[in-house]
Amino acid sequence: MKWTQEQELAIYEDGKDILVAAAAGSGKTAVLVERIIQKMLREEEPYNIDEMLVVTFTNAAAQEMRTRVGAAIEKALQSNPNSLHLKKQLSLLQRANISTLHSFCMDVVRKYSYQLDLDPSFRILDDTEAELLRNDIIQEVFEEWYGKEGEEQEAFFRFVDSFSNDRDDAKVETLVLKMYEFAMQNPWPYEWLEQVQQTYNLNEDATLDDLPWMPIVREDIKENLQAMLFDVNQALDLAQDVGGPEHYVPTILEDKEQIEQVMEYVGAPWDDLRGVAKRNEKFGALSRKKVECDETLKEAVKDIRNRYKERVKKLNERWFNRQSSSLMTDLHQLKPLIDQLVVLVKQFHKQFQQAKKNQAMVDFSDLEHYCLEILLDDKATPEHLTGSAVAKQFQHQFKEVLIDEYQDTN
Ligand SMILES: Nc1ncnc2c1ncn2[C@@H]1O[C@H](COP(=O)(O)OP(=O)(O)O)[C@@H](O)[C@H]1O
Ligand SMILES: [Mg+2]
Repeated sequence: MKWTQEQELAIYEDGKDILVAAAAGSGKTAVLVERIIQKMLREEEPYNIDEMLVVTFTNAAAQEMRTRVGAAIEKALQSNPNSLHLKKQLSLLQRANISTLHSFCMDVVRKYSYQLDLDPSFRILDDTEAELLRNDIIQEVFEEWYGKEGEEQEAFFRFVDSFSNDRDDAKVETLVLKMYEFAMQNPWPYEWLEQVQQTYNLNEDATLDDLPWMPIVREDIKENLQAMLFDVNQALDLAQDVGGPEHYVPTILEDKEQIEQVMEYVGAPWDDLRGVAKRNEKFGALSRKKVECDETLKEAVKDIRNRYKERVKKLNERWFNRQSSSLMTDLHQLKPLIDQLVVLVKQFHKQFQQAKKNQAMVDFSDLEHYCLEILLDDKATPEHLTGSAVAKQFQHQFKEVLIDEYQDTN
């Protein structure tokens, strides 16, 4: 098998973290297996298989990885039948750290549970249990807040009223739980929550363009415009095809020009972009001339055109129909609501943790957080915790950390 240049790079690159992203079936696992093999085969300080940590997201993927590494060692042995090093690898393979991320975390947490004030006989909450317990706790939290008085009560009621349209709290509870889940996906959930609060902490004179998430909004708008241009070009091709509705071409060309104009302003100050978008939100009418043409092509062109017209409508509803000053007013009013949300999320987190600890239970998210807590040194702070800092901490224990995502087996 001949590796591509990019695959070679991913196999031999050394001394830094690398991320390989490629389509399913394009050879990611093959590259990862080869990377492992080459680490064991190299002349200088060859690795032993148990000095590497290889993690996947599913058990099936871990099993496949182990089998493929085994096969690769056997194959390497055929060309180097006398290599003691390779023979040793084959015998080490059974205790190599090739597992799912969570089973790795579980091993670490069990072994060092004494550092965490956690009952070492803990067991994993299954999904149903976790959901029941979460529901109990969120009810508890809300009941407590309903019983509050004075300013706290006021803030809480304003929050509940703003996010639910009837007497039912389900929506607000879901919001708290969702925010909790987002937070827990970060290594430092509380810091992440505080960052969210910060983004709503706006100066009186801040404009939309000052907001940290505007680049993301613009990216979304740009992607929509690109999709429209793709559709416009397709409509043009069909209209100009043999038998196509050629009398539609002038209007479609105008559509195209209008979309391109908006595209030109996608990076401009918000009010300019909005102005151009509003000026171009209406498209001309298709010619009603009776012209002989292929009905299928004609209908196809109309369908495509309706598709991008619909997209324009949605884009305007979502972003351009309101003045930016009115959007800003909303944001200022959101600030105290977000603060209340964060208070509830933190309280839910504390009570949920306590409930799990009392029953010696952990969920998957706990496994990740406990494992991090054990592996990170005491001096690590959120600022240190870039992806590569985590990798370096792991590398105290393992010479190489290899992670395979396997989205294709899920
Ligand atoms: N450069 C290459 N030349 C030929 N076959 C390749 C090459 N890279 C990968 N393959 C083969 O393609 C198939 C899919 O590879 P795999 O690693 O399972 O993909 P992925 O993990 O990205 O889904 C495997 O049979 C693999 O051996
Ligand atoms: Mg794969």
